[in-house]
Amino acid sequence: MKEQINILLLGSGAREAAFAYKILQSPRTKQLFIAPGNAGTEEFNVPGLPILNFEAVRKFAEDNDVDMIVVGPEQPLVEGITDFFEDSPIKVIGPSKAGAQLEGSKEFAKEFMFRHAIPTARFMTVTHETLDEGAAFLDSLNPPYVLKADGLAAGKGVLIIDNIEEAKEKLAEMLNGLFGEASNTVVIEEFLQGIECSVFVITDGEDYKILPVAKDYKRIGEGDTGLNTGGMGAVSPVPFADEEFMQKVERSIVEPTLRGLREENIDYTGFIFLGLMNVAGEPMVIEYNCRMGDPETEAVFPRISSDLVNLLEGIADKTLGIKKMTVDPRAAVSVILASEGYPGIYRKGDVITGLDELGEDIVAFHAGTKRDDNGDIVTNGGRVLALTALADSIPEAAAKAIRGAETVKFSGKQFRRDISKDLV
Ligand code: AMP
Ligand code: GLY
Repeated sequence: MKEQINILLLGSGAREAAFAYKILQSPRTKQLFIAPGNAGTEEFNVPGLPILNFEAVRKFAEDNDVDMIVVGPEQPLVEGITDFFEDSPIKVIGPSKAGAQLEGSKEFAKEFMFRHAIPTARFMTVTHETLDEGAAFLDSLNPPYVLKADGLAAGKGVLIIDNIEEAKEKLAEMLNGLFGEASNTVVIEEFLQGIECSVFVITDGEDYKILPVAKDYKRIGEGDTGLNTGGMGAVSPVPFADEEFMQKVERSIVEPTLRGLREENIDYTGFIFLGLMNVAGEPMVIEYNCRMGDPETEAVFPRISSDLVNLLEGIADKTLGIKKMTVDPRAAVSVILASEGYPGIYRKGDVITGLDELGEDIVAFHAGTKRDDNGDIVTNGGRVLALTALADSIPEAAAKAIRGAETVKFSGKQFRRDISKDLV
């Protein structure tokens, strides 16, 4: 083993900023590169590197003696970056293209769960040819109706509809290209009633560890109202995900998932993100993702008190079983600051102030930020910053994060004051 390693991190959001924060804490890290990064990570950024051009990524990695590539978002994984580096000494943290199908295809994920008896909503897969069967399946369900585009649709491919006639219309529209090719195939699902949480697993293909549980808040408005966003905040831990619940998650979801992947000879190392619904105390899978969540990472990683790079090396070298993970018992709440207009058309270029007044106990993870020609840090995306606070209780952490959200200023700033309030 080398004494220290060079790491290339792919992505540009607050999730990647949280990865960078943990990677930079590690004495195992020699040099960190982030492509493309944002204004919070500027000394490490490689702005011009196209992360879906794997040849270009390889050239950069080889030229800079990169030992490990950490992939933030799903797309490089779904497009096969891990397979591309299969014969290279450079280790990619993330599953093969076949494994990433757990996120890349809802149909694949549902059928995988069915094959391995993993609890999930009843479903049917529909294409243009089977539209009539799909409509009949909708008739057999109680409202509301859940329609999901099979492929990646930038988090927008799920419709939840109360009215049966409208559901049938939307089904036909989806099959006619509402979400482009992603909805050539549609999964119709039974609606699950309950409260959601996000469980993250790291695995080297054999051993696994479950990271601290989190919950994210997807709607723009307080009380979970208004449009869906990329996520307006997160909290960890989640009180209802107690020991009994987590034992069920481990036995009925995590273990059968990893066993199923092995039985089907699917190479899977890296992160598995389980989007779960707590249905009257029973965990059921809403979705799999092949990466960490955003904004959950911003609440989960600050609670991991052990060395993340050591764990990543465990994943890469298949030595996760002998690695130790320790968790900070404190609670973390992360509040997202978003631009005016988000999640619709939003403004960019507003000057951000107050970042240097946050104090030591709030971490600011940048997302849509950049440095403009005057040297100011300005807004450059819908979600601008994630402000994470740790404290002995969830309400204290939330109060601290909100104070941080008030301290940072830019024109049109939006944030939710109710992150975590439904849990306490
Ligand atoms: P997905 O992209 O599969 O995570 O779906 C987006 C969101 O839709 C989820 O986070 C849930 O809030 C909701 N959702 C998806 N599937 C179901 C379901 N079967 N029952 C209830 N809500 C669902
Ligand atoms: N927070 C949900 C996601 O990352 O998909």
